[in-house]
Amino acid sequence: MVEPLLSELSRAGRVGQRFAAPEGCLDATGDLPAGLLRDTLPLPELGELDVVRHFTHLSTMNHSIDAGFYPLGSCTMKYNPKVNEDVARLPGFAQLHPYQPDESVQGALQVMAELGDLLAAITGFEAVTLQPAAGAQAELCGMLLIRAFHRARGDKRRTKVLIPDSAHGTNPATAAMCGYSTVSIPTDRRGNVDLARLRDEADDETVGLMLTNPNTLGLFEQEIFEVAETIHKAGGLVYGDGANLNAIIGAVKPGQLGFDVLHINTHKTFSTPHGGGGPGCGPVVARDFLEPFLPRPVVARRPTGELFLDWDRPQSIGELKGFWGHFGVMARALTYLALQGDQGIRDISGAAVLNANYLRARLADVYDIPFDRTCMHEFVASGRRQRQHGVRTLDIAKRLIDFDIHPPTVYFPLIVEEAIMIEPTEAENKDTLDRFADVMLQIAREAEEAPEMIRAAPHARTVGRLDEVAAARKPMLRWPRSDGEHLEARA
Ligand SMILES: Cc1ncc(COP(=O)(O)O)c(C=O)c1O
Repeated sequence: MVEPLLSELSRAGRVGQRFAAPEGCLDATGDLPAGLLRDTLPLPELGELDVVRHFTHLSTMNHSIDAGFYPLGSCTMKYNPKVNEDVARLPGFAQLHPYQPDESVQGALQVMAELGDLLAAITGFEAVTLQPAAGAQAELCGMLLIRAFHRARGDKRRTKVLIPDSAHGTNPATAAMCGYSTVSIPTDRRGNVDLARLRDEADDETVGLMLTNPNTLGLFEQEIFEVAETIHKAGGLVYGDGANLNAIIGAVKPGQLGFDVLHINTHKTFSTPHGGGGPGCGPVVARDFLEPFLPRPVVARRPTGELFLDWDRPQSIGELKGFWGHFGVMARALTYLALQGDQGIRDISGAAVLNANYLRARLADVYDIPFDRTCMHEFVASGRRQRQHGVRTLDIAKRLIDFDIHPPTVYFPLIVEEAIMIEPTEAENKDTLDRFADVMLQIAREAEEAPEMIRAAPHARTVGRLDEVAAARKPMLRWPRSDGEHLEARA
């Protein structure tokens, strides 16, 4: 059903609320020059209920984590507990002004200090910044720290960053933004970095390695110590894409695996809304020798115990983000951590890994799983068996929408043919996982019995299968009126 526009629902004289004029109230327009007064104001005229229903209808046309399962591998759409929102909206937090003097924002600085300390302790690093607005910006921050480190030592020869071919696309983009060239390192048959190739490439021109662990195949790097040692011996540093921390939190500290700097995605591990490049929060944790280069300001404590924002940092890479970063997201992340407690934090990774392995085992007889070993928080299946019936991974993804399930990430990582990357997250229960597995198995049967039906899916949605080429080449940028006419923009 096409939802009419508010202007189509409009009826002359209809109003939302009528407020009686307060007694003694003057005519507000009385003193204004007549030439400046409008004769008309062409806004839709509607009752409050019309407006509420209009927006409620529109909201039900979207899928959301609150509406249904969302097994989006790598991007991690995990449930955001409502209590996080309550805390972030406390007036003392929500009404802060970034120009307030430090002494009037001690509570907020305490939130930032506590969150930073907890993240450093959880990951096993000494230094921390909460300033980056998302994972991608945190990567830029981390690589700028590495660049500042080499430059401070006068080491200008290093120009290349090694990056496994299973890396998240933001990794090579980050290295390029720092002015470096990238060298792709292949993945071996077990789904690890090919150590022999890494040893061949690591030399005195190597800035460092950008490594995601667990990697985007959902697998733990089995030779992580040898990998880090190879880079360190060559004089480079090891950057950790720690976005997948929910797989190992409480069980392993990345700081003890050989990483020198690591970023965290609060949306992936600490249940904050997904920033999608911002406004989110991508904390960066680092070893102590990188501390002088952290973006400014950093939260510091005076001998009196008072917290303050320290801007006086001569070796800093500078400011990455206005003011302090996104404080509301930090308040949400700290709320989540505080609610979990020690044991709860350990349980996060246990449940994330168990859920992913349960689904992997349930699907393994029907969908190919190219790197088939115990996975971490996610796994990558392949739709290549279904392709024999003329059904592509994209078709399977579209068919899932008919069952109120958001499709998993598809065609990524690039090294898996017809990739279907599934991340259930620790937030889901067994009933939900079983329903998803049942639906996936049903779709595999449909692929054999009724491939045309799947190729035309989704069938039960407001918007069906789009012509993706036309959508890119001839985008429709105006919503059609229900009478078929386009609404012209008003001058
Ligand atoms: C492994 C990995 N690295 C980096 C990113 C980029 O993070 P963001 O989307 O917050 O920029 C993501 C996205 O969630 C990711 O999964």
